[in-house]
Amino acid sequence: MRVLRRLPELRRAGLAWQTRRESLALVPTMGALHAGHLTLVRQAKRRCKRVVVSIFVNPTQFAPNEDFGSYPRTWDTDIAALKALGVDAVWAPSVQEMYPEGFAVAVEPGGAAKVGLEDAFRPHFFGGVATVVTKLLLQVRPDVAVFGQKDYQQLKVVTAMARDLDIPTKIIGAPTLREKDGLAMSSRNRYLSPEERAIAPTLHRVLKECATRIASGGAIVDALAVGRAQIERAGFAVDYLEARHAETLAPVRLKTEGPIRLLVAARLGRTRLIDNVAV
Ligand code: PAJ
Repeated sequence: MRVLRRLPELRRAGLAWQTRRESLALVPTMGALHAGHLTLVRQAKRRCKRVVVSIFVNPTQFAPNEDFGSYPRTWDTDIAALKALGVDAVWAPSVQEMYPEGFAVAVEPGGAAKVGLEDAFRPHFFGGVATVVTKLLLQVRPDVAVFGQKDYQQLKVVTAMARDLDIPTKIIGAPTLREKDGLAMSSRNRYLSPEERAIAPTLHRVLKECATRIASGGAIVDALAVGRAQIERAGFAVDYLEARHAETLAPVRLKTEGPIRLLVAARLGRTRLIDNVAV
């Protein structure tokens, strides 16, 4: 497995695979890899002959008050895990390589990026994600790129972006991998204290209960009100708990307006968790 840090090295590797007509998949990550990331890598391996995993903690998607500086960096274990899975190359540019002096372009997504979910609480976020993912897709030029449904709005934003910018990469969404108690795996789970970790699975349990209630004919507003109260009672501060159209992410009031996705973001102490499920 090669670790590539400069664009010319990446281009040479890409060209060699292209010449041999070997298909290529990219799995973009910010490192601090867990089993959820590794399922994306397995999906990528199933679809393509060659797999590149990018590890880049992207400063432009963090606000000044967020955790860019303290975001977990676990390079050695990340590399060991990717090597064991048979990844062909890790693309790990420096911030300087990604955003050289004078860098002055941004991709500003609309549509799913402006529906009032993550964007309402992290207004800088999808601009940063869209810009870096555009760059990653143009740098690596993969046939396929795999993203997690864990970050559902991100998946929808990236899918629309690739389509709207005519980027010829197929975007794949992979299901969320969870701990045994239902908590969605996340690099940020390691911030949770033991007490918070015990409370954290409430989020997924409540989402599932809401989904069941709505699927069996319960009113969406009522299901969400009960769910929100349960999450708050467990000790979370809720940013949002919403029912949205699974494709457009537009608000839905009736089950017939579906397919429906339930999405939640809530803070437990200093840790912000997000999750989502289908109805
Ligand atoms: P990161 O948070 O490292 O996540 C990388 C990918 O792993 C994303 O597509 C995310 O949805 C997926 N993922 C995270 N937890 C998962 C889980 N429990 N099950 C399945 N997939 C999971 O998302 C980002 O990085 C960045 O925004 C990035 C797209 C790399 C752009 O900087």
